[in-house]
Amino acid sequence: MDNYVTGALIRKLRESSNLTQEELARKVCVSSKAISKWETGRGFPDIGLVEPLAKALGISVIELLSGVDIRNKNRSSDMKRCKFYVCPVCGNIIQTTGEAVISCCGLTLPPLEAEAPDDDHAIHMEIVEDEYYVTLDHPMTKTHYISFLAAVSDQGIQLVKLYPEGGAETRFKINRTERIYACCNRHGLFALSLSKRRHGYA
Ligand SMILES: [Fe+2]
Repeated sequence: MDNYVTGALIRKLRESSNLTQEELARKVCVSSKAISKWETGRGFPDIGLVEPLAKALGISVIELLSGVDIRNKNRSSDMKRCKFYVCPVCGNIIQTTGEAVISCCGLTLPPLEAEAPDDDHAIHMEIVEDEYYVTLDHPMTKTHYISFLAAVSDQGIQLVKLYPEGGAETRFKINRTERIYACCNRHGLFALSLSKRRHGYA
C-alpha cells in the first residue's frame, strides 16, 4: 500500500455521511479533537483505528487507505467503463467494469489508458463468417510483444492472452463488439472503436 488515510478523504466521507466530528469520534472511540487533527493533516489515525474508522465511514479499508472513494460510482457500471490493469511484475491482466482499486504483487495498479492505434500498432480486422479476425503487424519477441487482445461489446468482453513467439492475431465472435483493444508490453494499450469506423471517422 503506497498511501495512508488522508484527512481530506476522512472529512469528505464524514460530511457525506452527515456526521459531526463528535459523532464520528464517538463511533471510533476517540476524541473529536483527534478527528479534527486527522482532517487537517496534523495527525494520522493509528493503524489499529483504520478498520473501525472505515466501518464508521461506510467504506472499505482498502478504499480508505488508497484514498479512492469508489462508493456509488459502480451502480451504473457498464462495459463502456471497462478498464484494464496489467501487473508489471507478474503480468497478471485484470479487467473491471467500473471504478476499482486494484493491487497485485504489492503494487496499486493504475488503469491502462488506451490510445488510438499508431502505425506500429495498427489493428487490422476482417470479418470471417461470424467472427472478426484481428491481426497486428507487430513483433512477438520475448522483449516486445502484444500481450493480449480484447473485444468489448455492451454485453461483455472477450479477452485473449497472447505469448511471445506466437502470432499477434485472434478471432472474436462479432456479437455487438464496439471496441477492439491490443496491449503492447512496451507501448501500452491501443483501442480501435468500431462504431467510429462504421460512421467513417477512422
Ligand atoms: Fe509495441
